[in-house]
Amino acid sequence: MSARRPESLVLGIETSCDDTSVAVLEDGVTLRAHLIAAQDVHKLYGGIVPELASRAHLELLPRMVKSALGEANVEPAELTAIAVTHAPGLVGSLVVGLAFAKAYGAALGIPVIGVNHIEAHLHSATLEHGEPPYPHVALIVSGGHTELVEVKAFGEYRWMGATLDDAAGEAYDKVAKRLGLGFPGGPVIDRMAANGRAEAFAFPRPMLDRPGFDFSFSGLKTAVGTALKPHGEPPYPDALIADVAASFQAAVVETVVAKSMRAVDEVGAKALSLGGGVACNRALRAALATACERRGVALRIPSPRLCADNAGMIALVGAKRLARGEVSGPELDAFASLEASGLDLG
Ligand code: KG4
Ligand code: ZN
Repeated sequence: MSARRPESLVLGIETSCDDTSVAVLEDGVTLRAHLIAAQDVHKLYGGIVPELASRAHLELLPRMVKSALGEANVEPAELTAIAVTHAPGLVGSLVVGLAFAKAYGAALGIPVIGVNHIEAHLHSATLEHGEPPYPHVALIVSGGHTELVEVKAFGEYRWMGATLDDAAGEAYDKVAKRLGLGFPGGPVIDRMAANGRAEAFAFPRPMLDRPGFDFSFSGLKTAVGTALKPHGEPPYPDALIADVAASFQAAVVETVVAKSMRAVDEVGAKALSLGGGVACNRALRAALATACERRGVALRIPSPRLCADNAGMIALVGAKRLARGEVSGPELDAFASLEASGLDLG
């Protein structure tokens, strides 16, 4: 424990999907502890099984809270508030986190703050890069979301574009499955693409020729299936996998970079913040770095741990809401979709 008494110690809890995560954040800036447990059980099924995710959260969460407090050297009674993801996500998984947070908050006599998972991704870069200039653009690319958002101020957003069908990470996962690779597909395609030729297959650049900021990835997935037809079913030779991975990835990266730069230009943004698991992608990071440098725009990409689902970003948004006196009441509930989550999408 530091000599100075912290003004706030927020316990963050994230259980919206298949990662159980707990964080202890001091004064809205310093992560004193940050634990993330990926649930490996889903690999057996080639995708996330909601019921198994809920059970795993239930088993892991109490133990992880205890470990995180121990690692942070914080007694439960020293906590100021609990920030917990309440939407969007798998409702059964969200309810596990919410029930725990409400019970623990009541026992400790501290407020609970419901945090929107997507809003948390918008701000996760702040944990490492500090406060951003406003307005700026945030790009969320994950297994469930592909969103371009103008962040006018904390809490003030304009949704600029989103995917009309599959999310970027979902496309990676589906293409990986078609190639006979494991789940999740993003990391393995990222790796295989490094040895392939991006020009080997001429895959479409979906929606690039249309105005606006929306994305579409399902046609790209279909194009990959069509290209693989003459080669039969997996297993495929490594060289073919590498070429398909590189060509698919080039199409995704080109589309995402072009739309992001279009958004940056429209907003006149001085910064672009990234969040979501696909923001770990090395080709995407490199292409965005080049495009942002050319424009003199600061690129704020969190380290991989903070790109993927994590409680650090939940605690961060919770601390900001707490500082504004915005805490949740007993009616705090779980919602599956972003639209139903109550967040003002501008
Ligand atoms: O944000 P996240 O951990 O969970 C949610 O979906 O909310 O994102 C997971 C997604 C998966 O679809 C995974 O395949 C993708 O992020 N992903 C990647 C990479 N690492 C994870 N996609 C491309 N390249 C990567 N290196
Ligand atoms: Zn997420």
